[in-house]
Amino acid sequence: MRLRKVKHAEDTIKNHPDKIVEIPRGTTVNLEKKIDDRPLDLEIGAGKGQFIHTLSKNHPDRFFLAVERYDSVIVRALEKFIEDPRENVLLIQADAAVLKDSLKPHSVDTIYLNFSDPWPKVRHAKRRLTHPQFLSLYKTLLKPEGVLEFKTDNRNLFEYTLETMNGFGMDFKEVCLDLHKAYEPETLIMTEFEERFSKEGPIYKLTATFKEAHNEENL
Ligand SMILES: C[S@@+](CC[C@H](N)C(=O)[O-])C[C@H]1O[C@@H](n2cnc3c(N)ncnc32)[C@H](O)[C@@H]1O
Repeated sequence: MRLRKVKHAEDTIKNHPDKIVEIPRGTTVNLEKKIDDRPLDLEIGAGKGQFIHTLSKNHPDRFFLAVERYDSVIVRALEKFIEDPRENVLLIQADAAVLKDSLKPHSVDTIYLNFSDPWPKVRHAKRRLTHPQFLSLYKTLLKPEGVLEFKTDNRNLFEYTLETMNGFGMDFKEVCLDLHKAYEPETLIMTEFEERFSKEGPIYKLTATFKEAHNEENL
């Protein structure tokens, strides 16, 4: 993906350490110290932050982490929280892979993946956020009863994800092939990509847990 450089991004991020943490690859930050004991939800690939901003506003009883790897993108999310601050959110500029060493295992209640990059070429499959390597990370991060929610406009990525999750023994709670037909749009928290792509075709959504897989671990 080609990204436009945002001139002030680095400075804006540096100036708001209370709202955003940078975790460069190969380093770790102990995020435990920065979160509290409220239920913990995590969005990976948060983009410009519309989803996490609305969700955190609707749920002051929960704590949210939102991870995005590009500074020129996450700075747009940061600007939303500068304009309308929320004490229950921490933005993280990092590749999702670094979370393994930054969060306590089995500490997350919900993981949201919204409109993840499809990486259509087979040679790039490892970059897909629903590749088995990432599922393994999510299994480590989620509590045994924790939930993974995934939505996309990309049918191929959705089918790929059903396969990888199935291969991982995940338990599907909901599989929806047209989210905006199944639910009143006002009841949905839309992302920037969702607003753009729901006009062009169906939005697919699934909710799944590792519950069975965790239980097998205990046998
Ligand atoms: C297609 S955009 C969707 C953004 C937003 N979720 C939405 O629905 O509007 C996907 C985002 O995921 C981010 N992303 C992809 N892989 C990532 C990774 N491994 N770690 C962190 N962010 C990632 C990209 O930088 C991009 O901003």
